[in-house]
Amino acid sequence: MSANTISLNRKTDQLPDDGRPVWLFGYGSLIYKAGFDYIETRQAVVQGWKRRFWQGSHDHRGTPANPGRVATLIADAEARCTGLAYQVTPDVFEQLDVREKNGYLRLVRRLMFDDGAEVDGLVYIATEDNAAWLGPAPEAAIARHVASSEGPSGPNSEYLLELANALRIMDVDDPHVFAIEHHLRVLLEADHKPNYIDPGIS
Ligand code: SIN
Repeated sequence: MSANTISLNRKTDQLPDDGRPVWLFGYGSLIYKAGFDYIETRQAVVQGWKRRFWQGSHDHRGTPANPGRVATLIADAEARCTGLAYQVTPDVFEQLDVREKNGYLRLVRRLMFDDGAEVDGLVYIATEDNAAWLGPAPEAAIARHVASSEGPSGPNSEYLLELANALRIMDVDDPHVFAIEHHLRVLLEADHKPNYIDPGIS
């Protein structure tokens, strides 16, 4: 699959043409940096999926020559991923399809809310057949990769640390993200690089 998914995502018929709102599920940068208008946001869970830093980033946190590592969802029947669901109008996807163009497909997944309610929502997922895919690696190696990557949206470490902070505030345990964060903080400290801790939080 091409590294640019805009046209693939625009060919889907997921979006109501009468402007009715839909739910979007965010699990990576869409948690800590929405950057779009929404009607409502709620914590939500997608059953059967786990968050992994297995996707390459050519356009935000790295470059085609030196890709960064960012989050995607991986199918795992035993897993559940907690993120943020946003209720948005369909026009929001004009900008989101561009933001998520580097390998992410816009797919329909079942979202579960705390009160037991369930809805279908749209989720951007990068699958292993996309050109920017990097795949599994030990968490310490992912941290080294993240520590040394940077792209047009800023340092790759900012993405990881902002996400870890946001998950902590949401009271979500994600051992994969927190293990990478642990290794990364050691590397950043040794290098005297910014660790992005929000002074209001720590
Ligand atoms: C998401 O946050 O839901 C998708 C991946 C990303 O933009 O980081």
